[in-house]
Amino acid sequence: MVKHENFKTCTQSGFCKRNREFADRAAESSWKSPYALDPASITFSKGQLSGTILKTINEGHEKASLPLTITFLDSGVARVTVDEERRQKGDITLRGDSKARKERYNEAGSWALVGGLAVSEGAALSDKAEQGYTKVFYGDGGKHQAVIRHEPFGIEFQRDSQTQIKFNERGLLNVEHWRPKIEKPVEEKKEGEEEKKEGEEEKKEGEEEKKKEEEKEEEPKGEDESTWWDETFGGNTDSKPRGPEAIALDISFPGYEHVYGIPEHATGLSLKTTRGGDGNYNEPYRLYNADVFEYELDSPMTLYGAIPLMQAHRKGSTVGVFWVNAAETWIDVVKSKTSANPLSLGTKSHTDTQTHWISESGILDVFVFLGPTPQDITRQYGELTGFTAMPQSFAIAYHQCRWNYVTDEDVKDVDRRFDKFDIPYDVIWLDIEYTNEKKYFTWDPLTFVNPDKMHKHLAKRDRKLVAIIDPHIKNTDNYPVIDELKKKSLAVKNKDGNDYEGWCWPGSSMWIDAFNPAAITWWKGLFKYDSFKGTASNTFIWNDMNEPSVFNGPETTMPKDNLHHGSWEHRDVHNINGMTFHNATYQAMLERKKGEVRRPFVLTRSFYSGSQRSAAMWTGDNLAEWSHLQASIPMVLNQGISGFPFAGADVGGFFGNPSKELLTRWYQTGIYYPFFRGHAHIDTRRREPYVPGAPYTGIITQALRLRYQLLPAWYTAFHEAATSGAPIIRPNFYIHPEDERGFAIDDQLYVGSTGLLAKPVTTEGATSVSVYIADDQPYYDYFDYTLYQGAGHHTIPAPLEKIPLLMQGGHIIPRRDRPRRSSGLMKYDPFTLVVVLGKDGNAEGTLYIDDGETFDYEKGAFIHRRFAFDAGRNILTSSNLAKPSNTVKTETYLKSMAKVRVEKIIIVGAPKEWKNKKEVNVMEEGAKESKRRKSVELKYYEGSGGKASWAVVRDPKVAIGKGWKIEFGESKGHGHAH
Ligand code: GLC
Repeated sequence: MVKHENFKTCTQSGFCKRNREFADRAAESSWKSPYALDPASITFSKGQLSGTILKTINEGHEKASLPLTITFLDSGVARVTVDEERRQKGDITLRGDSKARKERYNEAGSWALVGGLAVSEGAALSDKAEQGYTKVFYGDGGKHQAVIRHEPFGIEFQRDSQTQIKFNERGLLNVEHWRPKIEKPVEEKKEGEEEKKEGEEEKKEGEEEKKKEEEKEEEPKGEDESTWWDETFGGNTDSKPRGPEAIALDISFPGYEHVYGIPEHATGLSLKTTRGGDGNYNEPYRLYNADVFEYELDSPMTLYGAIPLMQAHRKGSTVGVFWVNAAETWIDVVKSKTSANPLSLGTKSHTDTQTHWISESGILDVFVFLGPTPQDITRQYGELTGFTAMPQSFAIAYHQCRWNYVTDEDVKDVDRRFDKFDIPYDVIWLDIEYTNEKKYFTWDPLTFVNPDKMHKHLAKRDRKLVAIIDPHIKNTDNYPVIDELKKKSLAVKNKDGNDYEGWCWPGSSMWIDAFNPAAITWWKGLFKYDSFKGTASNTFIWNDMNEPSVFNGPETTMPKDNLHHGSWEHRDVHNINGMTFHNATYQAMLERKKGEVRRPFVLTRSFYSGSQRSAAMWTGDNLAEWSHLQASIPMVLNQGISGFPFAGADVGGFFGNPSKELLTRWYQTGIYYPFFRGHAHIDTRRREPYVPGAPYTGIITQALRLRYQLLPAWYTAFHEAATSGAPIIRPNFYIHPEDERGFAIDDQLYVGSTGLLAKPVTTEGATSVSVYIADDQPYYDYFDYTLYQGAGHHTIPAPLEKIPLLMQGGHIIPRRDRPRRSSGLMKYDPFTLVVVLGKDGNAEGTLYIDDGETFDYEKGAFIHRRFAFDAGRNILTSSNLAKPSNTVKTETYLKSMAKVRVEKIIIVGAPKEWKNKKEVNVMEEGAKESKRRKSVELKYYEGSGGKASWAVVRDPKVAIGKGWKIEFGESKGHGHAH
């Protein structure tokens, strides 16, 4: 069970408590938000509105100036920032002799954003603004409008004159302005406390003391100052050299009942309300990257990573906000239902979702997306933060991990067993025990005697090895890595400016400060083949514990008053920390050897907006329990709609031993994780797919083969993610945004745009599942073409050996059907196309392939085809989706693929008229005149017992990289029966 006492609740996190109380006060009718935009300060130029918000402070005697910008982007997205003039100018005094920066942290954007910032030229002030308001038209054809209210300050974002998003509607905007500390006698006690060491006893005392203090502070009208200047939790005291500096804002989505996003939480896709009530949470969703041991499910507790992107969805519209802040953040969600008003026609009942965002420090920086589709949100968010990096093809195949494969012989042995049992796999992983006493970049000399030989062994079947490298560096003698880290001063510092020392796997450790460009340069050097000896071009890297996890730190992480490059406090940058580290590793992987340019593969546990550009993620230390298998689906779906789709959960469950049935069902589910890896804790029994024996091993092997068979479809889905930001696995609402009944469905998924609809079995002893179908397309069972049609729930048989997978009519799915031992060995295998006819008889699909390894695809070395079956003309065509480039790289790649052909076409739902048809006509571009048209055998199979009819074109011998068409209809070639 998770140790709740190790992690703060909102009440235990001073700024969260203050802002929730602020919200409660604001709910009173006498409340007036103390923020007003000074009309005289407003200027508008080049798509940007600037002005000053004045916050009335000190009982009306003073005003704090808060510079505001609202930038209108070409993409139709708006960006709002609010800073604090006094801190901006450095006109404050830091407490103690802190070496921290004085400004509010304003660099989260520079880590997260990589584009999409072109300013709109068309954005314009409205000339008929009313008194007290400023209005700006922006977006395509001016269909967006920002209505800025001066007093109290607030903004309504409208699309087509309808308000979609409101800022400060409830008056919860709160920028904790700087103020000097007024010393009170009570402080003496606190200093005594700071001297104390950690430990259970002291911890209790500390908490008691805090309680006492809180009681004392209870002055009727004043603000709660108890955590303004320092804050103690679990025996750790956080000094706060800049005093209270939280920022908070309420963001409302009128008419929206569902909000999604803000990973990472072990929770359902459609977010719950967080201020109590039946079945709701009592705590806000928290974003404060942390190593949460044995995390609990259905909880708003924080986890390892943070993406502060939320989208609101209703029929006909999706909108969103992206809160660019890296500090500890809490988000309250409240939904309010308005019933239909019987007296006034036209007031339909509806639900509004109101959210309250609270961050500990930094500037306020929010992007506003007005949709109107879910695809618009993922694309625009991707334009800002980057799309998923196109992975190497092996990276989307199966990974075999455990803590730990114990020797190089063990690794080879596991590898041989996979082969012996004919089970495909691509990558074997090494956890921390491969190192010499947890010193990264070394091998244990007794157990990993010959890493070179091990790598060569794996390379025989084009397999890879992933080795773990964590950000904590062992603080020990005779270890050049720590010597350099110290000598070059590249470690994170404590508040006094000395190298911070804490506890992790190696014992006493220090942490690389990857915010520092010099640290990145140094880090890159450590991965060179002649530096990290024993690695090879088939070694890839796993970055774990990068929240960072510090065993003896507050909430298992670093003290917030630690200092990073640029003298920013850890408090300011915490949620970005993990990303800076895996980014550095990604860069290191690019430069391992001069001239060798391969796409890196890095797995990270901690992440932030932008992590998708350089890593894959997994959901950390789950449990080998059915409930965790269930929870993994919404979690991975949420990663997808939140811009970081290369995601998965430990197959089998990390802690504990899964039953054979659970293990089998987990593999049958894991084949739908974009990142697909089996992993297990050091205390568990071995559970590689060949371990459980019959019938389990065979059933798991079938599941793995299904993943491998569909790798072309998966790779194409990754390409879509890499070019449009679309998720790799997609929830119902994303595919059917108009289908209200499906908005909360998060236990089934679509694979890319293939129309493959999977409903994994996640309960014990199941023999069937109920799958929800949103539309009136025909859906066919993937294996036997049983037809399911009609919106609503359908029961599908699902005994252990059966994977419930449907194909939505209207799609063409590319596959490779020859079972191989690794994906690398499939590189030149022929393709099968499954044409699943839709209700109108048409179908279409795409295929993207490239060398799966280099960056040549950026220079045109790829194949991108569109396949379409046109029922009217009875023709199946393959056309080119690649922009004509014809670079040398294109030519070379096409040549290398010239012999790769389509070996089979299956048409599911084949029309009865084909019953007596024996052949089809095949035409390929560029073929010699004599061969331009050839006839190829067609076989028709009549369906029965609820199964659809299907037809097979066997070996049309058309090249995958070429244009071709196949005529199924009455045409010249018809009549030559065999
Ligand atoms: C962390 C990781 C886990 C890994 C272990 C040892 O708990 O989440 O996957 O096996 O550390 O490195």
